[in-house]
Amino acid sequence: MTDKMKEVFIKRKNTSQILVNPKYLSESYVPSKLLFREKEVEEIARHAADFLFSSVVKNIVVHGPPGVGKTVAVRMLEKTYNETAVEHDVDSRAIYVSAKDLTYRRTLYELARSLGLNVNLGMAIADIYEMIVNHMRETDSRYLLIVDEIDKLRKRPGDEPVDSLVYSLSRINERVERIAVAVYLVTNNARIVERLSAPSFSSLAPIFVYFRDYNVNELYAILKDRVEKAFAPGTVEDVALRLLAALIKRESKDLRWGFLVLREAPAEAEDGKITEKTIWRAVDVVERNVLKQVISGLDVNGLLLLYALAVLMEEGHRYIDSSKLYLKYEEICDALDWQPKTMKHVINYIGAKLESEGLITRRPVSKGRYGRTQIFHLEEDAITVRNIVREVLAERFNIRAS
Ligand SMILES: Nc1ncnc2c1ncn2[C@@H]1O[C@H](COP(=O)(O)OP(=O)(O)OP(=O)(O)O)[C@@H](O)[C@H]1O
Ligand SMILES: [Mg+2]
Repeated sequence: MTDKMKEVFIKRKNTSQILVNPKYLSESYVPSKLLFREKEVEEIARHAADFLFSSVVKNIVVHGPPGVGKTVAVRMLEKTYNETAVEHDVDSRAIYVSAKDLTYRRTLYELARSLGLNVNLGMAIADIYEMIVNHMRETDSRYLLIVDEIDKLRKRPGDEPVDSLVYSLSRINERVERIAVAVYLVTNNARIVERLSAPSFSSLAPIFVYFRDYNVNELYAILKDRVEKAFAPGTVEDVALRLLAALIKRESKDLRWGFLVLREAPAEAEDGKITEKTIWRAVDVVERNVLKQVISGLDVNGLLLLYALAVLMEEGHRYIDSSKLYLKYEEICDALDWQPKTMKHVINYIGAKLESEGLITRRPVSKGRYGRTQIFHLEEDAITVRNIVREVLAERFNIRAS
C-alpha cells in the first residue's frame, strides 16, 4: 500500500516538473490571440466596430464545428469592444451569455441581469422581456448582445426556444424605435438559423461567419504554441506533438481533447519526456475517462445488458443475436439476484439506449421463416468495457469489485 502511495507521489512530482504551467491547458484559459483565424476575427470585429461608432446594425451568426475558436473569438470581441467603448467615450457595451442548457426564459433573464436590471427567477418571459425593452427606451445606450451556444438551448415540449429568442432580440430595435442592439449568435450548426420561422429569420437578417475546421499542420502549430507556454522546455518531443495533431484529425476529435491528452501526459512520461508512447498512453487514459462517464450515466439494466454483451464478445462469439444476448443478461441478473426485465423491453428499449450513447450497434437480420432478429456489436474494447461496468456496478451496489 505504501509503495503504491509512494508511486502516486512520485508521479505527481514528475508531473509538476514537466507541466509547469497547467493553466494554459485548462478549459477556462482564454488565449490572447487566435492562430489561423485572422480573417474571421477581422470580419466580426469590423461589423462590431461599425455598430459601436456608426450605429450600423449587422446581426451575425458565427458557426462551425466544435473546438475551432468561436467562443474564444466572441469573448475576445466582448473584451475589445468594451475597452474601446470606454477609451473613446461611447455609450455602448457588449454583453456575453452562453445559452448552453438554459431555457429561453433563463437566457432572457441572464441578459437582463447583465444589463443591470432588477429581474428575478420567478418572473414570466413577457415581463422580463418588457423590462429589457423599457430599459432600452429609457436610456440611449447601445448593446452588442452576444449569445453563445444557441443550439444547446434547453427545449421544452412544444417550445421553439431558438426561434423565440431570435425573434425577441432582433425585434428590440423596432419596438423601441431606435438603434439599441445588435445580435451576435454562435452555434455549431447553421441549419438551426436557416430553419427559423420566416418572421424570425427576416428580422434577424444575419450575416454568416464560418469558422472552418483546422488542418493537421494548423492543429500542430496551435498545440505547439500552447505546449511552449505550459511545459518545461525540451520535455515534449516534436514527433509526439505531430502524433497528437494527427490523432485529433483522424479520430475527429478537437483541440479541447488534445489539451486533455496533454494534461494526462506527464503522469505517463518516461524519463521526464513526453514521447509518442506517452501520447498513446495518455489517449487511453482520456478515452477511458470519457467511456467511464458515459457508462456511469446508465441505469442498472443498461449496465447489465452492456456487461452481458462485453462478456459474450470477450468469449469470442461473432454472431450475437437477441436471444443469445438476452440469455446472458438473464444469467447475470440471476447471479446478482436482480429481477430481469422482459426480453422485449431489454432488446428494444435498453438496446436503443445503449445504441444512442454510441456504445453498441444493432443490425436487423432475417431468420427466414423464423422472422427477424438483431445482431449486436460492442463498439468499444470488450475487456475495457467489462472492467468499467464492473467498477460502476460495484459503486452503485456499494460492493467490492471482484
Ligand atoms: N486558433 C486557435 N488558436 C489558439 N487556441 C485555439 C484556437 N482555436 C481554438 N483554440 C483553443 O481550443 C479550445 C476550444 O476553442 P473554443 O472554446 O473557442 O471552441 P468553440 O469553437 O467555441 O467550440 P464549441 O463549438 O464546442 O463551443 C480553447 O481552449 C481555445 O483556446
Ligand atoms: Mg464554444
